[in-house]
Amino acid sequence: MITSSKEIQEDSSIDQSLRPQTFEEYIGQDQIKKNLSISIQAAQKRGEALDHLLFYGPPGLGKTSLAYLISKYLGSNLKVTSGPALEKAGDLASILTNIEAGDILFIDEIHRLSKTLEEILYSAMEDFVLDIIVGKGPSARTLRLDLPKFTLIGATTKFGSLSGPFRSRFGNIYSFDFYTQDHIIDILKRSSNILAVKADSPEVYQHIAIRSRHTPRVANRLLKRVRDYAEVHNNGVINQPVIDETFKLLDVDAQGLEAGDRKILETIMNIFNGGPVGLSTLAASTAEETVTIEEIYEPFLMRQGLLQRTPKGRMVTKLCYEYFDKLPPTNQTLI
Ligand SMILES: Nc1ncnc2c1ncn2[C@@H]1O[C@H](COP(=O)(O)OP(=O)(O)OP(=O)(O)O)[C@@H](O)[C@H]1O
Ligand SMILES: [Mg+2]
Repeated sequence: MITSSKEIQEDSSIDQSLRPQTFEEYIGQDQIKKNLSISIQAAQKRGEALDHLLFYGPPGLGKTSLAYLISKYLGSNLKVTSGPALEKAGDLASILTNIEAGDILFIDEIHRLSKTLEEILYSAMEDFVLDIIVGKGPSARTLRLDLPKFTLIGATTKFGSLSGPFRSRFGNIYSFDFYTQDHIIDILKRSSNILAVKADSPEVYQHIAIRSRHTPRVANRLLKRVRDYAEVHNNGVINQPVIDETFKLLDVDAQGLEAGDRKILETIMNIFNGGPVGLSTLAASTAEETVTIEEIYEPFLMRQGLLQRTPKGRMVTKLCYEYFDKLPPTNQTLI
């Protein structure tokens, strides 16, 4: 799915080259930037390491980019790993024992850390110590190592999967919002400069932004696709016909909906009479995974006002019937 906010293979090189290099280039998320700047200044005044930070929000909204920026700004080393990459206690212990004062340890997908590793992190985060068990059986004993003061930045798309005690060990928790259209347009303009893309009018950015699911990663990916089409068919210049043709090929409509989105909405309308329908039933009927529905489709469809989560399950809205040019069922109360 071209508008999935999850990283796909073609992204890694674009993500790298388009990653903001300064806080000024990091567009939007103003609330986070304000709070962060206070925390950074306070830590610098005290001459201490920055408090541990937890970033959460849907994929592609700039969590990793912000972690890179913070380390760059502080001039500290950044060690990057992820929940699924850390399997054994030894993996984590070797990272922690190699850490230097002021370093930043970035753990992506931190909700996927095992319970054992989570508990090792507790004492590392709170008391800056590492307890390792040496030996086996009755002769086993715990060895306590002091760790230098470091900053842990955890990133997660699933805040709810983190235990309360784990969450409470982060000094600051930042929730990442979807971007406004204007911010996405600014990001697209910056990316166009870097990629040396020519647009014949500012409106073309707006057309890309509308289809970006309010997500910088998707916006950049679409820009690249539009640029490729323009290079082949229009000497590299992006204009309205180039936009129309590219999105026709990609099957992304004027509101940014793709076939997968339409399938979910149509299933709820046609098979479940508009809902409510439970997540797992919906997943089975659309042959999608529940996590994909929850993380990729739903946030966007809800933001577009086409879908609603209720305690009884998922429902489509009046607006959804309007979008498909259909009349809502008379025996249904829809929002
Ligand atoms: N605020 C921003 N300003 C400019 N570009 C941004 C911004 N946020 C993200 N981007 C662009 O989007 C790309 C993806 O962002 P990033 O990798 O930081 O997302 P993420 O939240 O870590 O995603 P995931 O949850 O998949 O790890 C970046 O490479 C960058 O080009
Ligand atoms: Mg990331």
